[in-house]
Amino acid sequence: MKLFDVYPLYNVEPVRADNCSVWDKEGIEYLDLYGGHAVISIGHAHPHYVNKLKNQLDHIGFYSNAVQNSLQQELADKLGKLSGCDAYELFLCSSGAEANENALKLASFHNGKHRVVAFSNGFHGRTSAAVAATDNKAIIAPINAQQEVTILPLGDLEAVEVALKKDDVCAVIIEPIQGVGGLDQAPTSFFQGLEKLCKQYNTCLVLDEVQSGFGRSGKFFGFQHHGITPDIISMAKGMGNGFPIGGILIAPHIASKYGLLGTTFGGNHLACAACIAVLEVLEKEDLIEKSRILGEYFTANATAIKGLKQIKGRGLMIGLEFDFEVAQLRKELIYNEHIFTGGAKNKNLLRILPPLTVSSSQIDTFFTGVKKAIERLELV
Ligand SMILES: Cc1ncc(COP(=O)(O)O)c(C=O)c1O
Repeated sequence: MKLFDVYPLYNVEPVRADNCSVWDKEGIEYLDLYGGHAVISIGHAHPHYVNKLKNQLDHIGFYSNAVQNSLQQELADKLGKLSGCDAYELFLCSSGAEANENALKLASFHNGKHRVVAFSNGFHGRTSAAVAATDNKAIIAPINAQQEVTILPLGDLEAVEVALKKDDVCAVIIEPIQGVGGLDQAPTSFFQGLEKLCKQYNTCLVLDEVQSGFGRSGKFFGFQHHGITPDIISMAKGMGNGFPIGGILIAPHIASKYGLLGTTFGGNHLACAACIAVLEVLEKEDLIEKSRILGEYFTANATAIKGLKQIKGRGLMIGLEFDFEVAQLRKELIYNEHIFTGGAKNKNLLRILPPLTVSSSQIDTFFTGVKKAIERLELV
């Protein structure tokens, strides 16, 4: 059977990984500054994580949501404490798109409205409502295009008010730091204005923390840089350090009801064990603060890179915008410098999304590698 061909692949196959390194079949070591697309939060194969998953598998890996699973409450307690979002309630699912799908659906159940407001260059996933709220026509099939979505310029509060005044908007969805769109961030005044408008017009403010959450931005959630209180927060990626788990945090004024949301796999024993291990390591190794400090180290030293136009992002969610397209540079970094990095919708942007355990010397290795690659390719 052939694989459905939807991914353009680099010719490298990691077979082993440890902390910020991965090794291919030939035993070549690569520095992972991509974190498998912002997924690896506490480092590959962290011993505490591995033991917790192995031990869980020895006991019970899965049972349905029809019976008690106290790991879900343990996860909720630890997450509430570490994130400072204790007052919220938790619904668990298995991916970022599913988290956003549930967030938008819940908003619509809550206020009875049906339109979504989202922002230019945003990305929220590939399922029905999530993809309709994503500003990329190429991935919106006709079946998704039936959703009522208004895409507005990021930062345009007046346009948001015009849309909300029509009284049909169930949710405004926004990433605190745009991921694939290219690391743009609206200012604090915009986030605070959004919060106010959403309250005024009975619309749910949904913060998509799928990529920026779990410490990546230097705070537990990216929205915490702006002093706002969203109605719903969606999470995934770093939550499971590679184990598929997602979830939403729901403000207490949004009422639950049996059957309102549901899932077969969400919140299963293995997924909970993975997320609990992640939370324990984030706390024990102070990785959220480390993400902030290492992010500052990275941005302070990246200015010396030739051809760099702009540094974007926060913490260890960083975008390096060059005055040339980076596709060739990424290949050179992988094949000759053995460093994984990410790309973005903006073809001039290199994305840096390492495990939060990355060290300053590994960041220096990147600076040396990128310098050599740029010189070899004669890009500047
Ligand atoms: C901000 C954001 N939201 C949602 C998603 C979708 O997550 P998933 O691929 O787990 O469905 C992504 C994935 O890249 C993302 O970056």
